[in-house]
Amino acid sequence: MKDKLEQLKKAAIDEISKASNSKVIEEIEIKYFGKKSELSDILKSISTLSDDEKREIGPLVNSLKLELNSIIENKKNEILNNEIDLKLKEEYIDPTIDLKNEKVGHMHPTSQLRYKLEDIFRSMGFMVYDGPEIETDFFNFEALNIPKNHPARDMQDTFYTKDDTVLRTQTSSCQVRALREFGAPIKAVIPGRVFRNEASDATHEHNFNQIECIVVDENISIANLISTIDMFIKKIFGEGVKIRLRPGYFPFVEPGFELDISCLVCGGKKCPACKHTGWLELGGTGMVHPNVLKAADIDSSVYSAFAFGFGIDRMMMQKYKVEDLRWSMSGDLRFINQF
Ligand code: PHE
Repeated sequence: MKDKLEQLKKAAIDEISKASNSKVIEEIEIKYFGKKSELSDILKSISTLSDDEKREIGPLVNSLKLELNSIIENKKNEILNNEIDLKLKEEYIDPTIDLKNEKVGHMHPTSQLRYKLEDIFRSMGFMVYDGPEIETDFFNFEALNIPKNHPARDMQDTFYTKDDTVLRTQTSSCQVRALREFGAPIKAVIPGRVFRNEASDATHEHNFNQIECIVVDENISIANLISTIDMFIKKIFGEGVKIRLRPGYFPFVEPGFELDISCLVCGGKKCPACKHTGWLELGGTGMVHPNVLKAADIDSSVYSAFAFGFGIDRMMMQKYKVEDLRWSMSGDLRFINQF
């Protein structure tokens, strides 16, 4: 038994001294101290020895255990310190380096505008609500008074997915979500990405951003709608910009309007960004249809509401005078670096 212990000690010390990284030392620890180790077998077998043997071997095994343990701990510390030193050397940073000439990235103009819009609406007491881009048919259409087989579904070329879900075609999909979650009264904006199976041109992409707004309270009127829109449009584009409402059809509002702003890219002189009309359509708006409030369990005899959904990309084009939306997602640094 004594020889066996001596051999074990030699072999262990030899292996420990050769260990070069923490993974190896861990393996050695398991090999010599683990449940299935020789040392553990020896410890277990002590109970089968005679009393005399126990008296002799017991302390030997214990002191071997202690000795190996301290050798292994020392080695572990040594390895750890070496590894830390190496890491510090490899990942060395000099905080005094002058970074003036280094290129750092910045937010895409559409994101810049999105955050600006969020700030403006927050300052007016609105909550900023978020919802899923993969949406159920119910929230994208049915809750918005667009039943299955309704011709209004053709107004938007939808990307259908499996299981009765769609890539949301409009942030209006969050109207009933927000209303169900928070009830009335509520003032919320919902910025986010929407998807439509459309060919891209100067003002269209298959993947773009909208900001939805929904306001529900007693006595909400078209006057509230117009003043809210006028206020935020002026905050974004300046006092000079004009807005105009035209009658428009959306099943979830009644009455419904299309909202245009005077084109800032050409100042009304007509250009590709305004399709040569001097006006640019930002999106739709109107007084929320009672059926939508009903889908959210809100009593339309007590509450009325307005909503709008405008394209953030189109606002970005106006704000930064971008003539063609396709630049926006081109990834071309000559475009991005201008903002
Ligand atoms: N969701 C409509 C669209 O994307 C816009 C809209 C929103 C119209 C809210 C009315 C009210 O075309």
